[in-house]
Amino acid sequence: MAPRVVLVGPMGAGKTTVAGLLGEAWGVPVRDTDADVQSTTGREISDIFVESGEDHFRDLEAAAVAAAIAEHDGVLALGGGAVLRPETRDLLAGVPVVFLRVGLSDAVKRVGLGVGRPLLLGNVRSRIKALLDERTPVYESVATHVVETDGRTPDDVTTEIRELL
Ligand code: S3P
Repeated sequence: MAPRVVLVGPMGAGKTTVAGLLGEAWGVPVRDTDADVQSTTGREISDIFVESGEDHFRDLEAAAVAAAIAEHDGVLALGGGAVLRPETRDLLAGVPVVFLRVGLSDAVKRVGLGVGRPLLLGNVRSRIKALLDERTPVYESVATHVVETDGRTPDDVTTEIRELL
């Protein structure tokens, strides 16, 4: 079993929202690795980062992605940093992966104050810029398709993905 599509991209790309819309449109279940980590640990992601560190969160996230790819046949949204681990990228081979691309201004607008996103504590705009610069090539390397999200509604993005897949 493999997901029908995996959504990757940075915070503020709209992965969770678009995953929900795709799941509804296709009538398939939706999974989100952030939600999986929270439900398996019973802890908030911000608490895991602060109390146990980012490396520990990445271990939990890698395990959540591996389980979802093995078990889930619907829509799967990954946390923005999940593809940083090479072993996680390897798991995506052969699966349709959509990179929801977003530019700095739209990402900043969508994440607002960054509540619940530990990597954005401090200066949201400069943190997002650094993450976009560092990770865009990684998202591009795993993506089978790239969909622009700047200035577009989640419905519009969902329609384009349905046309592509
Ligand atoms: C992160 C993105 C978050 C969450 C965690 C780390 C990242 O998920 O996994 O705060 O490294 O980009 P979203 O992309 O769903 O906000």
